[in-house]
Amino acid sequence: MLNGKRILLIVAGGIAAFKSLELIRKLRARGASVRCVLTDAGAKFVTPLSLQALTEDKVYSDMFSLTDESEMGHIQLSRDADLVVVAPATANLLARMAAGMADDLAATVLLATDKPVLAAPAMNVRMWTHAATVANVETLKKRGVIFVGPNDGAMACNEFGPGRMSEPEEIAVAIEAVLGASTGPLAGKRALVTSGPTREAIDPVRYISNHSSGKQGHAIAAALARLGCEVTLVSGPVAVADPPGVKVVRIDSADEMLAACLAAGKLDVAVFAAAVADWKAAKPATAKIKKKAGAPPPALELVPNPDVLATVSKPGAQRPLLVVGFAAETENLVANAIDKRKRKGCDWMVANDVSPATGTFGGERNTVHLVTGEGVEEWPTLAKDEVAGRLADRIARQLGAPRTLKAAE
Ligand code: CTP
Repeated sequence: MLNGKRILLIVAGGIAAFKSLELIRKLRARGASVRCVLTDAGAKFVTPLSLQALTEDKVYSDMFSLTDESEMGHIQLSRDADLVVVAPATANLLARMAAGMADDLAATVLLATDKPVLAAPAMNVRMWTHAATVANVETLKKRGVIFVGPNDGAMACNEFGPGRMSEPEEIAVAIEAVLGASTGPLAGKRALVTSGPTREAIDPVRYISNHSSGKQGHAIAAALARLGCEVTLVSGPVAVADPPGVKVVRIDSADEMLAACLAAGKLDVAVFAAAVADWKAAKPATAKIKKKAGAPPPALELVPNPDVLATVSKPGAQRPLLVVGFAAETENLVANAIDKRKRKGCDWMVANDVSPATGTFGGERNTVHLVTGEGVEEWPTLAKDEVAGRLADRIARQLGAPRTLKAAE
């Protein structure tokens, strides 16, 4: 996936620097070459020798080294890569990047580069949530720096919260997403993915929702991005992390989901993996509904939600070339999915059994059938990431194929 790609890895001074060694191994295993810049503080955590051994390349640390400058000047170093990765990106280095400083080789390279920059922050939770870091990250995001993580978890300083650097595999996947964007089979294509549940307010503190975790939808967004697609992910409230390299629009209700989908612009493909609540309260109360002694529980009048998939599937100039729905069924899986494909007007329907025994909702695996205009494909039980990868590959093949889709009759 990263064959021939050149990564410049800047290793700054944090305890997470040890994970950068594993990151190098993972990137090289994917076919990339890695060259390292090590800050003075970084060298307190990993040695230049380890980085050199793993990259099989010289490690750069000194801005004023006559030999380094004559062999590979710092401007050249910053331009000779396809991507600059900062891992760990410490609070100090992020602050220096935001301020545009050039007070060591790492900061100078980051100021001089004309290549995309991906940062994997790692720091104490209080440093991460400090207003200064929040503002620096905002500034860097506005300038186009892409962030992966940090994750929540136990920290080396015995505190708990966001600040742990993403795992090497997550960073490697994020790198694939960023670099795939210009070279993958879906480069230049635009996708919309919906994911997670919706929440329909009953009053300001109560809502109707469902058990959707968003794992499958988020994995599909990530898989499409890895193939170079520009992806907008419209997601209900979920605990899973934002997929790297994807634009995430957060919504609560089905009405908000529909508005966000219609605002996504011209699309090549749309995948509707969200578990949209079918009904909403006819008149959500504006204040908390109170119990009244002796009175029966209040009646809840429901009205149907808009059908996002059916709306986007309607024929017209704005219709995506390929519309994919999900059929969550607990019985007559394939027959219901075939029927649902026709009713909703989409091109493909991914049928998945969500009866409790399958553990699909919230679980890691999924058994699906792909219902197309040509027939029904039975897929084996796969991890949700694998289902996503396979679906993204099928979509890439379909969008690359010159023949037109057989629309749902
Ligand atoms: N969907 C949608 N908007 C809705 C309801 C569903 O976009 N208001 C989409 C889902 O994202 C999914 C597909 O429609 O891609 C099918 O969802 P599912 O819950 O299986 O079907 P329902 O429409 O609820 O039909 P039924 O009640 O017959 O199961």
